[in-house]
Amino acid sequence: MKEQPGAAASPLLLEVRDLTTVFPTRRGQVRAVDGLGFQLHEGEKLGIVGESGSGKSVTLLSILRLVPPPGETVSGEVFFRGQSLLAKPAREMRRIRGREIAMIFQDPMTTLNPAFLVGEQIRESLRIHSIVPRSNGLFSRLSDQKRKAAEYQRVWQAMADVGIPVPEQSARRYPHQFSGGMQQRALTAIALSCEPKVLLADEPTTALDVTIQAQILALLDQINREHGTAIVLVTHNLGVVAEFCQTIIVMYAGQLVEKGQIDQVIEEPLHPYTRGLLRCLPKIGAGAAKAETKRREKICPIPGLVPDLAILPPGCPFSPRCDVAMPACSEVESVPLLPLRDGRLVRCLRYQRQAGP
Ligand SMILES: Nc1ncnc2c1ncn2[C@@H]1O[C@H](COP(=O)(O)OP(=O)(O)O)[C@@H](O)[C@H]1O
Ligand SMILES: [Mg+2]
Repeated sequence: MKEQPGAAASPLLLEVRDLTTVFPTRRGQVRAVDGLGFQLHEGEKLGIVGESGSGKSVTLLSILRLVPPPGETVSGEVFFRGQSLLAKPAREMRRIRGREIAMIFQDPMTTLNPAFLVGEQIRESLRIHSIVPRSNGLFSRLSDQKRKAAEYQRVWQAMADVGIPVPEQSARRYPHQFSGGMQQRALTAIALSCEPKVLLADEPTTALDVTIQAQILALLDQINREHGTAIVLVTHNLGVVAEFCQTIIVMYAGQLVEKGQIDQVIEEPLHPYTRGLLRCLPKIGAGAAKAETKRREKICPIPGLVPDLAILPPGCPFSPRCDVAMPACSEVESVPLLPLRDGRLVRCLRYQRQAGP
């Protein structure tokens, strides 16, 4: 179904190694992201899934060095095309943000400025990255008005590309005059205006109803196909990842607990937490259709709550909620990430004997 296998052969774009980001709190240090690692190749669509509070947003912010203080990335590496982002000067990092790696933030209204016209905000994004020249080169001989007209051609094109109807008119509206779906499209237009190599999309469809959700995902899919843009899609909805992504990372309490090709993980989820997430789904893609028919009547959420990261239980942080936990699960100091067949990874003691060298 999903044309995956080529992706691994494509050039490596982004590599995250052993990334740890912490927040000091009154009750102690919180490890929002704890030793996370993954690779992203050109044209790949990677999904990161986990309940709210599992560290997904902080992962994306850490990659772009936008973690709000006093939060801090205390260890690990982020490589973009082989260069360490964590070591880059701030000025160089500003160029990379947006131009090479763009992010769609979780809340549209934190990115869109309510006081400016949507068209102006897209134009500003193009200007910051010199996609439209300010007043030198070819444009120095043009009057301001002509230059503005030329810039607006680009703005309208960017808006048309993301499916905003009548761009000439829509550009003259304020964000609050847009519906949620249209705001999300405007954000996507800003993120894509500079043709980034990597798009980090943080819950881009969460606030939208199902039809608009499907439209935004179709749009991201089209961008991925036409421009080869690699996409990291963060969501708490495993169904969205199942439809959209080739590779999936499941996060729990800041840690990667399972990783694999999406079809394999849906067919045969290994970590008890992933199984729990799958059980929460009312409906899933073709692969699991049969099992699903039996399940559909009864949707059972994972019992218990996402743990407080400041007071994690001993051993495996999922063990208090796990229906197959063994005594060892809460006795070990930490559970290692085990490499299994087909490049799959799982952080669960039950697979220790199957793990490769
Ligand atoms: N600004 C912050 N200050 C303190 N702690 C934070 C902050 N942002 C995130 N955290 C901590 O990091 C955890 C993960 O947050 P986040 O990455 O936003 O989760 P999600 O998976 O829902 O995107 C939170 O549960 C919280 O404990
Ligand atoms: Mg989040």
